[in-house]
Amino acid sequence: MSRKKISLIGGGQIGQILALISAQKQLGDVVILDIPDFEGSVKGKALDLMEMRPLEGYDVNITGTSDYADIADSDVVIITAGVPRKPGMSRDDLLGINLKIISNVAENVKKYAPDAFVIVVSNPLDAIVYAFYKVSGFSKNKIIGMAGALDSSRFKAFIAMETGYSTQDVSCLVLGGHGDTMVPLTRLATVGGVPVTELLDADKLEAIEKRTRMAGGEIVKLLGNGSAFFSPAQSAIDMAESYLLDKKRVIPSAALCEGEYDIDGLFIGVPCVIGAGGIEKIIEVKLNDDEKAALKVTAEHVSSVVAETKL
Ligand code: APR
Repeated sequence: MSRKKISLIGGGQIGQILALISAQKQLGDVVILDIPDFEGSVKGKALDLMEMRPLEGYDVNITGTSDYADIADSDVVIITAGVPRKPGMSRDDLLGINLKIISNVAENVKKYAPDAFVIVVSNPLDAIVYAFYKVSGFSKNKIIGMAGALDSSRFKAFIAMETGYSTQDVSCLVLGGHGDTMVPLTRLATVGGVPVTELLDADKLEAIEKRTRMAGGEIVKLLGNGSAFFSPAQSAIDMAESYLLDKKRVIPSAALCEGEYDIDGLFIGVPCVIGAGGIEKIIEVKLNDDEKAALKVTAEHVSSVVAETKL
């Protein structure tokens, strides 16, 4: 069996961690693509990882390039091309510049890797993944946005930090857009099967929900010159791995809804089954009235940003 191929479009902060984890997990050969000005940088990162191979004992190949022909026959393409936010910016502030970038990336991925499973990470996520879908014409099961995996991981981390119990036993779900209007579903969160509502009082849970919604901004403020990169990279790798190994994991992700959750024509965070068929299913959870209202608010927000793409 030949090795799988994972192409990373954008070899900056997140891209380099994606390359590292892909190699360590031996998911397949890795191509890191960036603009010509950064070709030396991604070639250098790739060579550094190649020289790490004997220490870690992995055998996959890692290469850097600025030539899209090198992504031909990719099984998975993960896109982080674009600019990250700076303190004081919202993800939506990135739309103008990242929209131009994604249009160019989409044309090239369509041309060189039309059969790949594409995971978009660039922000504002829900609008950028929509733009990729529109420009590339990819089928809806092969294009997905990474957001809910990260937002849910943050939610889990805060629950684990507050209870003092293992992160491994926390299970929870965040729906909606990748922004301050996202909807952490506290009602359904559990630790080792025990509802979190029985473990933490309402005030604490409300504070955790709020921190989850603002978690990206908390890191942007601390870093001062960019946004989170370790946890976004691991989140995208979980999605890629579920596809490559046909794991059929249930991972909240931005998928094209066509009637699910009463949302039509938008990419937004919903629980997705990810397997060899790409997005194999969107699972619909029964929501209570408050949750439905919150989802409506986040969908309206996503819709307003998508409208600005004029696509
Ligand atoms: N094609 C390929 N790569 C590009 C292009 C392009 N047209 N335009 C920019 N890039 C590259 C940049 O040269 C840079 O190396 O994308 C990379 C982005 O890396 P960083 O600036 O370090 O940003 P990062 O922290 O990785 O975040 C990337 O993901 O989470 C989101 O909001 C974040 O939109 C941002 C993206």
